[in-house]
Amino acid sequence: MRSFLAVLLPDDVRRRLDAAATGLRRQAPAVAWVRADNLHLTLRFLGSVDETTLGRAREALEATAEATPPFPVTLGGFGGFPGARAPRVVWAGVTVGAEALIALHARLEAALAARGIPSEGRPFHPHVTLGRARSPRGAPELAGPLGPGGGGAAEAIGELVVDAVHLMRSDLAPGGARYGVLARGALRGTPARRGAPAPDATV
Ligand code: 2AM
Repeated sequence: MRSFLAVLLPDDVRRRLDAAATGLRRQAPAVAWVRADNLHLTLRFLGSVDETTLGRAREALEATAEATPPFPVTLGGFGGFPGARAPRVVWAGVTVGAEALIALHARLEAALAARGIPSEGRPFHPHVTLGRARSPRGAPELAGPLGPGGGGAAEAIGELVVDAVHLMRSDLAPGGARYGVLARGALRGTPARRGAPAPDATV
């Protein structure tokens, strides 16, 4: 089953992202834009995995959720992968909470690796994918709006408190992927006290 670990976004945040991307959609109608219902923040793509691996991913999700306290995130700014000039992936960025997301991702990777699912081994850039270019040449028509001075660089689009991580299934369909929740890990770690050493710091 094709699956991934993600932070799901509240309804209002998905609506705001969708509204904020209206101008981009108008400028690049050929991009496959993600419909509002499907917008999410991927932490780790697992790909097509069997039931055993899925069970291990569920355990890793539980272990991570238990050790991670909820934290705030603000989404803002648009960009492109591999770059703004000819983006193949168009995304909304994270202006607040990126470090906490990176730490959450690292903890997930460690928990997965401990259960025999090797790390992707590439840097994690927290983002919400808004659209994917259908052409391998990307969408150069978005170079202006996504590039420097494109406007709205770090304007807040939406805020949320990340209080859970979800293990999702993805079924590819002609009108776009269909997602379903396989497991939910509620974040229930104890927040570090201000000035106190990080829980995993070696003393
Ligand atoms: P993305 O948000 O970075 O595009 C569900 O399909 C999620 O898994 C997508 O949102 C996508 O993350 C990620 N994903 C899909 N196919 C992938 C692939 N081949 N490699 C890495 N991540 C992928």
